[in-house]
Amino acid sequence: MTGMTSPLVLKSWSEAPRQPEMPPQPKPTGWRVVHARHFGSLKPMHRSAVRLAMLALAGLAAPTGAWAQVGPVEMVDQFEATSGKFAGYRRSGAKGICAEGTFVGSESGRSLSLASAFSGNPVPAIVRFSVGGANPGAPDNARSQRNLAMQFDLPDGEVWHFGNISAPIFGAASPEQLFGRLQSLQPDPTTKAPDPAKVKAFLDANPEVLLQGRYFASQPVPASFATVNYWGVHGFGFTNTRGEKTWGKWVFEPVGGTQSLSDEEAKAKGPNFLFNDLRERVRSGPVSFLFNLEVAEPGDQLDRATVPLPAGRRKVTLGVLTINAVAPDGGGSCLNINFDPNRMPKGVEGAADPTLTGRTAPYAISLARRLVEGPKQQ
Ligand code: HEM
Repeated sequence: MTGMTSPLVLKSWSEAPRQPEMPPQPKPTGWRVVHARHFGSLKPMHRSAVRLAMLALAGLAAPTGAWAQVGPVEMVDQFEATSGKFAGYRRSGAKGICAEGTFVGSESGRSLSLASAFSGNPVPAIVRFSVGGANPGAPDNARSQRNLAMQFDLPDGEVWHFGNISAPIFGAASPEQLFGRLQSLQPDPTTKAPDPAKVKAFLDANPEVLLQGRYFASQPVPASFATVNYWGVHGFGFTNTRGEKTWGKWVFEPVGGTQSLSDEEAKAKGPNFLFNDLRERVRSGPVSFLFNLEVAEPGDQLDRATVPLPAGRRKVTLGVLTINAVAPDGGGSCLNINFDPNRMPKGVEGAADPTLTGRTAPYAISLARRLVEGPKQQ
């Protein structure tokens, strides 16, 4: 494989932070499901949003490393060629719903990072839950990927974006490997199915792309967007006010624990139950996630999204995210955002993982395309 950076392996770690503790819960808002008018049409904003996406792209440096091999436009074109083009929808994570929440950072978060997200003051969060893949008709009751994307709106205009998935690993170790996998799965125009010989040849040379699918196949269907873990998958570094750095990988874990469905229960739920389930759960009680950091140890690999941290790493709770409201329909403040996980606040940084740094440009292109087409997510 070309374009891979050499593995980043942790050499040392900061002194042990204090034990995780639960930060104070945000004040109840008194309303849990927002009215349609709050999530009204954003059409007048589309033009300026497209302009913003274009500006973001214009500001990108010339492609280096991975992007020297596969351009972001080529990548998004390949998503469409392999999975189909669904006008207006995200080219990945197409079927989704907007929500709003509040994040409250913990004392442990403050001890690890100077980021204002951990101040302990409630931080407003724009949240999006989605089902993996480019198909907006993807069934909710399959053993497949669920996503949790977020924007934390921090003081002084700082923004923190997240795009987390319900597996501890991604399906490729580099943009080129993802591109190659997608190419191998592109349906043949005559048979309308991928060419088995191409699929096999790619898998023989890149066996790690099967790991994520095996993980999903081994897991039962989640009972709800609110009852599954969401991993950041990449390595992230946290720097505190003393300049000490702690590396790890994060996971958002439901406060009430994970819940899943038996195969019979999943079948009975049908292909479209997740959105109403989330609305009902948020209406009837708190839906919260612990923002946990699994702290890396010397020797752990942090720049490969196909390699999870070894089991049993010390976990630190950085804060609690509480979902306060869910959109009544396919609109909402998340619709026109591309959640680019390279947007991090001061005090947080990403590892040199090509599947992290390689996300910015194709996300902006997908956003620009869907805004021009008329954005949709349901
Ligand atoms: C170079 C590698 C990758 C490429 C080319 C890629 C491509 C994309 C694209 C084009 C979108 C749609 C963006 C939009 O329209 O706003 C997307 C969404 C998403 N991707 Fe990736 N992705 C990559 C790596 C990853 C990784 C490693 C993860 C795992 C954490 C991930 C998780 C997600 C999630 C959660 C969404 C949906 C976000 C939302 O709700 O807006 N992606 N990806």
